[in-house]
Amino acid sequence: MSVQLAMPAIRSTAPSGQPLLREGVGELRDQCGRVAKDLRVSLTDRCNLRCTYCMPAEGMEWIPSEEALSDDEVLRLIRIAVNRLGVEQVRFTGGEPLMRRSLEHIVAESAKLRTRTGKAISTALTSNALGLDKRAQTLRNAGLNRVNLSLDTLDPQRYLALTRRDRLADAIKGIDAAIRVGFSPVKINTVVMKGVNESDVVPLARFALQRGCQLRFIEQMPIGPRNLWKREDMVTAEEIIGMLSEEFSMTPASVPRGSAPAALWNVTSSAYQGTIGIIASVTHPFCGDCDRTRLTTDGAIRNCLFAHSETSLRDLMRAGADDATIAEAWAQAMWGKALGHGINDPAFVQPDRTMSAIGG
Ligand code: 5AD
Ligand code: SF4
Repeated sequence: MSVQLAMPAIRSTAPSGQPLLREGVGELRDQCGRVAKDLRVSLTDRCNLRCTYCMPAEGMEWIPSEEALSDDEVLRLIRIAVNRLGVEQVRFTGGEPLMRRSLEHIVAESAKLRTRTGKAISTALTSNALGLDKRAQTLRNAGLNRVNLSLDTLDPQRYLALTRRDRLADAIKGIDAAIRVGFSPVKINTVVMKGVNESDVVPLARFALQRGCQLRFIEQMPIGPRNLWKREDMVTAEEIIGMLSEEFSMTPASVPRGSAPAALWNVTSSAYQGTIGIIASVTHPFCGDCDRTRLTTDGAIRNCLFAHSETSLRDLMRAGADDATIAEAWAQAMWGKALGHGINDPAFVQPDRTMSAIGG
């Protein structure tokens, strides 16, 4: 594995002081030279699960509906991102994006947009797969290109303990529906936690390989219920690779990682072969290659999952700003993106918002 680069502690969010766009058209470039082309839109902060690493069992404070973006507002901002700011990929997240009834409409309208080179933009969904069995086909018909589905265990009791809901069978139904209607690839995301689901690593790998899905193991990040994350409880990418190596033959895939966070491994056993990704967000941050910009459920731009400040485009929009003004505000918000998430910095402070409001 590569040597970890130290992340500077600078967290400038200073605007550039001058216009970044020409007549409201340009790109989302930050002061470190990164250009954001991947927009993640949180369509709701609600969820039908209560994963322990994401939400408390009770007492979540939900964003009031009048503060959340309407369908028209979300679509206006997506159009600005694509048509004015060079965004090429839109990923719908939550919370649980399937809980937004108009998801198909939002996908269908987004899928009509074209990049600057005239290609269709890429649309993707990050979901827990509950209820996807009933909507996989309609979403595919709406033009959705890819799905990433979360699954942390194959044991029903453990699923209940981890998500606080007895829904493992429904999640598997959703994953199988995504495969059946032809999404390709279907990716499965697994967060590995010490003493919780380490024994699921190999069974989940088999489950995914058997189905031709790409499993991606994710290091747990300090976001979610406060003071829950402890470095000692995190299962590192290296440990995960160690567990898989005991069962499978593993060779690093030669494809360069680029801005994709997962380091890919070719996995072979006597019965199956495929690719498994390892997302070492904490031990090998990919911040230097990050090409994401995030829109929260209530219409704020976050230039990083771990940012401490936001820029509300909703307020601008509701005050009557035109598209060029909104695009400029978005570009300014991205300009100050920090070079790294700083998790490995002793002075790291967890952001106030949970992943469910920010969008994963
Ligand atoms: N660390 C890593 N991944 C997380 N997710 C949610 N919270 C965390 C965290 N603290 C994952 C979910 C899902 C995706 C949206 O983000 O498991 O796959
Ligand atoms: Fe819901 Fe995803 Fe959070 Fe789990 S991690 S509670 S599925 S938003």
